[in-house]
Amino acid sequence: MLLIIPQVLGRTQLDEIASRLNDGRFVDGRFSAGKTARHVKNNEELHANQRQMEHLNKLVMSPLVQNPLFQAAAMPCRVASPYYARYSTGMSYGDHVDDPVMGPPGGQYRSDVSTTVFLNDPDCYQGGELVIRTSYGEQKVKLPAGDAVTYPSSSLHHINEITAGERLVAVTWTQSMIRDPQQRELLFQLYQARESLLETQAGSEDATRIDHVYVNLVRMWSEL
Ligand code: NI
Repeated sequence: MLLIIPQVLGRTQLDEIASRLNDGRFVDGRFSAGKTARHVKNNEELHANQRQMEHLNKLVMSPLVQNPLFQAAAMPCRVASPYYARYSTGMSYGDHVDDPVMGPPGGQYRSDVSTTVFLNDPDCYQGGELVIRTSYGEQKVKLPAGDAVTYPSSSLHHINEITAGERLVAVTWTQSMIRDPQQRELLFQLYQARESLLETQAGSEDATRIDHVYVNLVRMWSEL
C-alpha cells in the first residue's frame, strides 16, 4: 500500500529545516548505500554532528511518528533516524530495493515501511519523481513540502533524474508491529472504517463490533 500523508510538517518547521540544511555539509550518498544500491545511487546526504542531527531529527520525526495516519498505516515498533538527501541537477537514484536490515550491530531493525518526507516545494525542481512499482503499475510521487509518502520497503523504486533545481527529502524506515504488508493494509482499511464509525455512530453496536475486531486483530497479528 502506498499512502500519502499530507502536511506532516508545517511552514515554521520547514523553514527551520531549510535553514539548517542550507548551512549543512553534504557528502556523497553512495557511502551509506547497500551493495547493489551503491551502483545506482547518485545523490548527497547531510553529514552533521550529533547535536545538529538530533535537532533536525526532532523537527522531522516527532511530527511524523505522532501523525495518526502514519501510526495507523505503518504501525511502528521502531523508527530509524532519517537521512537527509539532496539531489542536485543531473542526480538520480536508479531502481533498487531498500536494505532489509539496517542499523548498527546491536541496534538493528528490519525495514518494513519506507517513508519519504518532502522538504522543499515541487516547483523548486524539475524531474525527481519517486517512482514506485506496485502490483497496479508504476506510481509517480512528487509532493508539496511537508507531505510524506509511505510504501512497503520490499517495493522496487527509483528517483528520476533531476533536470533542474534541487530536491530535498528526509527518508526513514520503520520496523512495523505488523510484518506482513497485506495484513497491514487490511488493518489500515479496518482502522479507517472504525474511525468513521466512531465519529458518526459512537456507541452503536456496529461501532463497538468493528472496534472490537480491529483491536483483537492487532493483538493477534502484532509482534514486538
Ligand atoms: Ni530507496
